[in-house]
Amino acid sequence: MQTSLQPIFIRGLRIDPPLLLAPMAGLTHTVLRQVLLGFGGVGLLSTEMLSAKRLPTENPAISPYLIRTASEKPLSYQLLISMAGEIARAIDVLHAVHADAVDLNMGCPAPAVGRFGAGFSLMEQPENVRPIIAEARKRTSLPLTAKIRLGTELDEQRLRSFCTMLEDEGIDMLSVHARLKHESFARRPRWEHIAGIKERLKIPVIANGGIFSVQDAKDCLAASGADGLMLGRGAVIRPWLFAETARELCGNSIAEPAVFLPTVYGRFLDLLFEHFTPERRLGRLKQFTTYFARNYAFGHHLATKVQASNSVEEARERASRFFAKAHNTVVTECTEKSLP
Ligand SMILES: Cc1cc2nc3c(=O)[nH]c(=O)nc-3n(C[C@H](O)[C@H](O)[C@H](O)COP(=O)(O)O)c2cc1C
Repeated sequence: MQTSLQPIFIRGLRIDPPLLLAPMAGLTHTVLRQVLLGFGGVGLLSTEMLSAKRLPTENPAISPYLIRTASEKPLSYQLLISMAGEIARAIDVLHAVHADAVDLNMGCPAPAVGRFGAGFSLMEQPENVRPIIAEARKRTSLPLTAKIRLGTELDEQRLRSFCTMLEDEGIDMLSVHARLKHESFARRPRWEHIAGIKERLKIPVIANGGIFSVQDAKDCLAASGADGLMLGRGAVIRPWLFAETARELCGNSIAEPAVFLPTVYGRFLDLLFEHFTPERRLGRLKQFTTYFARNYAFGHHLATKVQASNSVEEARERASRFFAKAHNTVVTECTEKSLP
């Protein structure tokens, strides 16, 4: 049974500790990444999914999807892609912004994404995947990774042959969100099904889904035997979760995180002002707060008050009042129950 993790090396990229940030639309932008880096323990950061078709029209200096600071390294950029013809120009952009890795989204089950043949629908049409990987492989020597779900239904053979195909075509590392296409986030993730994939592949396999505590990370590792773990919502609720996990599972000598929730929230707000234009701030604050509020027994009050705010200033004021009253209602446990 696997109980610890070793650094991962792919094409000259060192992922140490092998703890990865999950790509999350509206959440994994420069501000959250910087907050995470403040605590440490992240081996590979990520953007949210970026439309390969639209990417060449974005201005990296002002695009909310592309702005980043030099400290955000290593940083993987995730592409939402449906055909090989979209690859070349998208990869040119990723080279220009100094991407450290390129990830291909093959797991997003949203119907709006599937209609264009992207996201999870690539898992349903493996014949469309080969030319995309072949073209990407031709265009870049950066690490090329993929993120998948377990499938439409449990079909071990189909899943394994899909993953083997990814490896054979040149994917360097595979992240697996341990749920089926239509399974909601409320369902317990099927970490044990990652073990079958790991057994088959030579490339590193990363387990994702439902890690909200160090204990979850240990359980996920034991069940999956993965080479690394990918944290999503758990790290939005607790940006220090990477640091805690790195200490426990990777023998990392990182300092024990000192956490004062209002300070973490304040840092997020300050960075929002620093990096985003006014019209981009409030939506991102609301989305972050939905998760961060889970640190409090009555966090739904915080989330509701921020949701109802008409400006970031108003939200900040309301949050300050909440923090002043709620300091002794901090919770130490958090589960997936009813989380979006
Ligand atoms: C708000 C939100 C946005 C997401 N956006 C993406 C995305 O852009 N690309 C992607 O591959 N997965 C996306 N996901 C899925 C996550 O990467 C991850 O697989 C999922 O949240 C399970 O991991 P977790 O339980 O650690 O959050 C998103 C999930 C959430 C909650």
